[in-house]
Amino acid sequence: MISPCWLSALTFLLLLDLTCARQIALLIIDVQNCFLPGGSLAVTEGDKVIPVINNIRSEYKADISLVALSQDWHCSDHISFASQHKGAGPIIQLLYDKSGSLCDENNNCTEVAYNLTQHLWPDHCVINTSSANFSLSLTQEPSDIVIRKGYNCKVDSYSAFYDNGGFRYTELHDKLQEAGIDALIITGLARDYCVYYTAMDAKKLGYETYVVLDATRPVTKATGDSAVADMKIKGIQIIESPDVATVIAQLTSDAIHLQSPFIIMISMIFMFH
Ligand SMILES: *[C@@H]1O[C@H](CO)[C@@H](O)[C@H](O)[C@H]1NC(C)=O
Ligand SMILES: *[C@@H]1O[C@H](CO)[C@@H](O)[C@H](O)[C@H]1NC(C)=O
Ligand SMILES: *[C@@H]1O[C@H](CO)[C@@H](O)[C@H](O)[C@H]1NC(C)=O
Ligand SMILES: *[C@@H]1O[C@H](CO)[C@@H](O)[C@H](O)[C@H]1NC(C)=O
Ligand SMILES: [Zn+2]
Repeated sequence: MISPCWLSALTFLLLLDLTCARQIALLIIDVQNCFLPGGSLAVTEGDKVIPVINNIRSEYKADISLVALSQDWHCSDHISFASQHKGAGPIIQLLYDKSGSLCDENNNCTEVAYNLTQHLWPDHCVINTSSANFSLSLTQEPSDIVIRKGYNCKVDSYSAFYDNGGFRYTELHDKLQEAGIDALIITGLARDYCVYYTAMDAKKLGYETYVVLDATRPVTKATGDSAVADMKIKGIQIIESPDVATVIAQLTSDAIHLQSPFIIMISMIFMFH
C-alpha cells in the first residue's frame, strides 16, 4: 500500500522527469521538388537524403518531440531569381535601409544600412506551384509543423529562423520554445545554404545543434566543405545517421543524471521521516 506521502513524492519525481528530460526536435530543411533531381534548382543526389530522414524519424519516433519542415516559398518575381536581373553576374549586392526596405534600382536610399551579397538562382519553389511541394516520398505526419520562408519578394531567406538580412523572423523559434525544445537534429537541403544558415542561427539561439551529414547534400562540394568547416568551428556537431542513436542516448541520459541526486535526497528524507 502506497502512502499519500509516497504518492506525492512519486508525482514530484515524475514532474521532475518531465521538466529535466531533454526535448529533441527534428528539422527537415527544404525537401521540396525544386531542389530534387528534375527540379529547377536540383541538388545532386538530393533525393538520397529522403530515406535517411524517413529512417531517423521512424527509428527515433519515441525520442523526437517535434518535427518541423521548412518550405522555401517565393514570389514568382523573387529578388533571388536571375530572371529578375538581366545581364547581372552570378552574385550581386543588395542594399537595404534600416527598416529592411530594398533601396531603389539606382541604390538610392536615405540611408543604406545593409549591403547583402545575393547569389542569383534559377526560378524555384514559387508559391502554390508543385515545384514548392514537399517530395511525396518524404514521410509527413499531421502533427508536423511547416515553416514557410522567403515569401518576402525583396529579401531572400536561407535560414528557417531569420531572413538573410535578419529583418524578420519566422515562427520556428517560438514554436520550438513552446515545445520546450533544447536540442535540434538538422537534415535536408542544401548543406551549404539553407541547412548551414539554419544551423548557424540555431546555435546562436542556444540550441544544442546536430547536423546529420548524410541526410544533407551540397550545391557544390567546395561550398559544402567550407560550410562544414565553419559549422565545426562554431560548435555545431557534425554527425552521420548511425551516430543519431548515440546522440539521442546521451541527450536522454543527461536527464537521468540530473535526477539521481534528487531521487536519493528525497528517498532519504522519506526513509528517516
Ligand atoms: C533619391 O530618392 C530621394 C527620395 O526618394 C529623392 O528625393 C532623390 O531625388 C533621389 N536621388 C536620386 C539621385 O535619384
Ligand atoms: C557593397 O559591398 C560590396 C562588396 O563588399 C562593395 O563592393 C560595394 O561598394 C558596397 N556598396 C555600398 C553602397 O556600400
Ligand atoms: C496561394 O493559394 C492560396 C490558397 O488557395 C491563396 O490564398 C493565395 O492567394 C495564393 N497565393 C499566390 C501568391 O498565388
Ligand atoms: C502540392 O501540395 C498541396 C498542399 O499539400 C496540394 O494541395 C497540391 O495538390 C500539391 N500539388 C501537386 C501537384 O502535387
Ligand atoms: Zn530560395
